[in-house]
Amino acid sequence: MAMTQRCDRAPAWAQLQAAFETAGRQFDVRHAFVDDAGRFERFSQEAPYLFADLSKNLIDARTEELLFALARECGLEAHRDAMFAGEHINNTEDRAVLHTLLRAPADAKVGKTADKLREVHETLDAMLAYAEKVRADHTITDVVNIGIGGSDLGPQMAVLALAEFAAPGKRFHFVSNVDGHELAGVLQGLAPEHTLFLIASKTFTTAETMANALSARRWYEQSGGTDIAGHFAALTTNVEAAKQFGIDTTFGFWDWVGGRYSLWSAIGLPIALAIGADGFRRLLAGAHAMDEHFRSAPLEQNLPVRLGLLDVWYRNFHKFTSRGIAPYHSALKRLPAYLQQLEMESNGKQVDASGAPLPAGLGTSPVLWGEPGTNGQHAYFQMLHQGTDVIPLEFVAVRDAAHDLDGHHPKLLANALAQAQALMVGKLDAGGHKNFPGNRPSSFFVFEKLTPESLGAFLALYEHRVFTSGALWGINSFDQWGVELGKVLAKDIEPRLASGDIMGLDASTAGLLKRLGAQA
Ligand code: F6P
Repeated sequence: MAMTQRCDRAPAWAQLQAAFETAGRQFDVRHAFVDDAGRFERFSQEAPYLFADLSKNLIDARTEELLFALARECGLEAHRDAMFAGEHINNTEDRAVLHTLLRAPADAKVGKTADKLREVHETLDAMLAYAEKVRADHTITDVVNIGIGGSDLGPQMAVLALAEFAAPGKRFHFVSNVDGHELAGVLQGLAPEHTLFLIASKTFTTAETMANALSARRWYEQSGGTDIAGHFAALTTNVEAAKQFGIDTTFGFWDWVGGRYSLWSAIGLPIALAIGADGFRRLLAGAHAMDEHFRSAPLEQNLPVRLGLLDVWYRNFHKFTSRGIAPYHSALKRLPAYLQQLEMESNGKQVDASGAPLPAGLGTSPVLWGEPGTNGQHAYFQMLHQGTDVIPLEFVAVRDAAHDLDGHHPKLLANALAQAQALMVGKLDAGGHKNFPGNRPSSFFVFEKLTPESLGAFLALYEHRVFTSGALWGINSFDQWGVELGKVLAKDIEPRLASGDIMGLDASTAGLLKRLGAQA
């Protein structure tokens, strides 16, 4: 499988380095607006269901041209096409990467992946029919999703985000942590006959999920429940393991859907239960529209590509190590956590796709973090405005509110605009503690309304942006070997907590184990 040419080996890299030394390092976006009356238009981009203003970023037209040249030299377009075509671009696991197929319409022309598309729609139709059946069943008042990582963050984020579209009458709970406080807290007050458990796990082996699923089943039986088959459903690629657990109702998916890319699959069942079959299809349609944009728009007008290239510019030239996201919509509370897994689990890599170490200085995933505005303004924004590090920030704002409380929405939007403005413009005449350096970069995303379509489009935008930077770095964005070591060590440590055996442990782990274990 041909991978991309690593960006630091492409000819445009040296030109970018020269551009950074001559103009990039000292770039002042305030001067750039004075010099270029068309800057807002040049650096804004319409894309399906959203608009992005990138003009407050530390980048000029010449640099962006070089970044487009770099992307072409690296073979970004061929790599993108290979993903859509179902080639095994996840080379370390020898798998295709086809989450885009999950949102392709049934009649889409998808070449060699046509059989897979047929299966996708068969499963989707079955899952949505089940969702409608459960929605109509008023005895089910509580849905408990048990899953972690990609089997939790996406559905949890989307159910919250789309609460406006949810039918009343059902409560949704998400249990991910092996910490029993979480499950115990959710189970309190639930009645087995009114509860549906969804066991969401691609592998059906994840330790946390299996522990929670077993405890939920025990609770169900001990509370008098007698119909496991009717009150448990599984969302998994491992249908056999679900059956052994005693679950008859299983909605499957495939190894070519990565966990953090799986909310579009059966893992999205909680979303379908909340917003219905039509709502779920709208979510898929929004993502599909962004897929088509990514696939067909020239790089120069391709929003995920422009963002991914900006990410490379910031990470590898400006050496920014972190990026913040501030959704100005309280329903998007869990969006930063969702995007954090998407970006950091995909691109937090230190070897290229062939396994060779990346050269020193070729940083990969930044730290992605965030909290909704305006709350963040009273917490971390201080550091963004006056701290010693520059952290690009992303604003997400929605033009039309979903409530009619007088005066709130203009206040919210004014704050988002003012913060972006303050970061850029700064204030240098107040003296000492009161000065703001300004020239602090931000991007600004605008939705007309938070709908299933606009949410779907935005999530797909982020997926493709992460694909773009990962492809330029020459890494495999679709494996996650970095999660394995801790899992193995936890298995070794767990019995030691009871036995007190510290043999072979480092002194720090041994000391802590003595304090935490039964011997303490
Ligand atoms: O943390 C590693 C990981 O494999 C994630 O990629 C995945 O989303 C999560 O665990 C859950 O995995 P599963 O769905 O197989 O339970």
